[in-house]
Amino acid sequence: MKKILITTPIYYVNDLPHIGHAYTSVICDVLARYNRLNGNSVKFLTGTDEHGQKVENAALKKNIDPLKFVNQVSQNFFKLTDFLNLTNTDFIRTTQNRHKTSVQFFWQRLVENNQIYLADYEGWYSIKDECFFQEKELVKNGNNFVTRDGSNVEKIKEESYFFRLSNWQNNLLDFYEKNKDFIKPESRRNEVISFVKNGLKDLSISRTSFKWGIKVPNDEKHLVYVWLDALTNYITALNYPSVDQDFKEYWENSTHIIGKDILKFHAVYWPAMLMAVKLNPPREILAHGWWTNEGKKISKSLGNTIDPKILVDKFGADQFRYFMLREVPLGQDGDFSEKSFIKRINSDLSNSLGNLIQRTLKLHFKHFENKVQISLHEIRISQEILDEGYSLFSTIDKNIENFEYNKALEKIWSYIDKLNQYIDKQEPWNLVKEDKTKASEVLTLLIESFRLIGIILQPFTPESANKILNLLNIDFKEREFSFCRKEYCISKGTIINEPKSLFPRYNDQIS
Ligand code: MSP
Repeated sequence: MKKILITTPIYYVNDLPHIGHAYTSVICDVLARYNRLNGNSVKFLTGTDEHGQKVENAALKKNIDPLKFVNQVSQNFFKLTDFLNLTNTDFIRTTQNRHKTSVQFFWQRLVENNQIYLADYEGWYSIKDECFFQEKELVKNGNNFVTRDGSNVEKIKEESYFFRLSNWQNNLLDFYEKNKDFIKPESRRNEVISFVKNGLKDLSISRTSFKWGIKVPNDEKHLVYVWLDALTNYITALNYPSVDQDFKEYWENSTHIIGKDILKFHAVYWPAMLMAVKLNPPREILAHGWWTNEGKKISKSLGNTIDPKILVDKFGADQFRYFMLREVPLGQDGDFSEKSFIKRINSDLSNSLGNLIQRTLKLHFKHFENKVQISLHEIRISQEILDEGYSLFSTIDKNIENFEYNKALEKIWSYIDKLNQYIDKQEPWNLVKEDKTKASEVLTLLIESFRLIGIILQPFTPESANKILNLLNIDFKEREFSFCRKEYCISKGTIINEPKSLFPRYNDQIS
């Protein structure tokens, strides 16, 4: 049994959750469930990033006290974990005391290790990105500078503490070299390496011009820079400042899943800071792509954000999860449209999978009452159809390790397609009239393959996977991946419940 930590970014509470947040969280949930089904002990962490100028401004704009504001907005992210069926084991909020203690201790360790000095910062700052920029990183928009992503920047000049990031350039490059899998996908790893090779400047890590944040120890007019505050959440949740055996074991197997826009913070600043306090960097970072809405960048100002709650209420959590995971490879950008959403879930979930299970179990129920009639060990026909099912698990393992969730689903569905071809070829609805034993054999083989599909789909579409396993009366203790072998096959006499529709079909003629 391995101890594994999986994390989402903590979400800014200046706004409501949208599909971008839901996407990162679902990816983490799949990995968490997958690892648990393989017998590992998984901590899955998510939460909210509640300090900084952006959040303070959002509260001021609403004329609400920042603490009251973050208490309200953070609830929306808490609800996200529920309606997406996330199996997180913790929900951290950076306004919690445990986190304040952890950040201030982390800061002290940086001071003790001579990693911090006081100076003046003069330069550009984007409140939207909570990020400092050098002028050469900006572009002109009319008379103003903006970031390459179009965020506004303002010139700031204030006293600031600096982290000696420039000292860590070689250690970072060494680390990337020795840990080739640290940043995935590879294209992102190359970007990070060339960013670091270009030279690192010391990083401003405190602010003095607003009030909402964690105070710098022994210098209360400074607030800890919100990114240092936020990144530390990952170790707060492991009980930092205590670094015990449990901490080390989870940290050694930690995965941060993030969007591509916040890679620099996670893959450059965070490992450097960790090394500076003599802790190891996390095991790996996956940077996923961004979603657009019908080809357009999703933004509040364009008014085209997509509320995941509305989609889940209308179509179901599994349908939402399936679409997001199946539609695009994780590292690439994806485009959302309700039309492609409905097309995908109708074709894969309702038609290929739902219909197959429905028609098989209906036939079984009608002609063989509610019991499996024959032991699988007595069946001599069509063994290859089962062998392929059993071997799915090892094939998919590699895909999950490489974050190729869409490929994993593609393989599961190509197996489902084969089962559809099999039933069409065998025509058990005719066989029952001519050769009832053979009909029972064909249906039993299909039922066993549904057991395998039910088990393997649990990380991706947990509710429907459990419905399938419930139809087959599979014991809860026998739903782990280790039961996907022939010796645990469905046994003669197992009660098969009357099938109910698993996935409704939606009208795809929307305007
Ligand atoms: N608070 C920081 C993270 C701190 S982690 C120590 C933050 N928060 S965020 O709420 O702005 O973004 C959270 C995540 O949502 C990021 O991983 C970001 O990439 C992701 N997404 C935001 N918009 C997105 C899309 N349109 N598509 C996909 N993911 C996107 O950054």
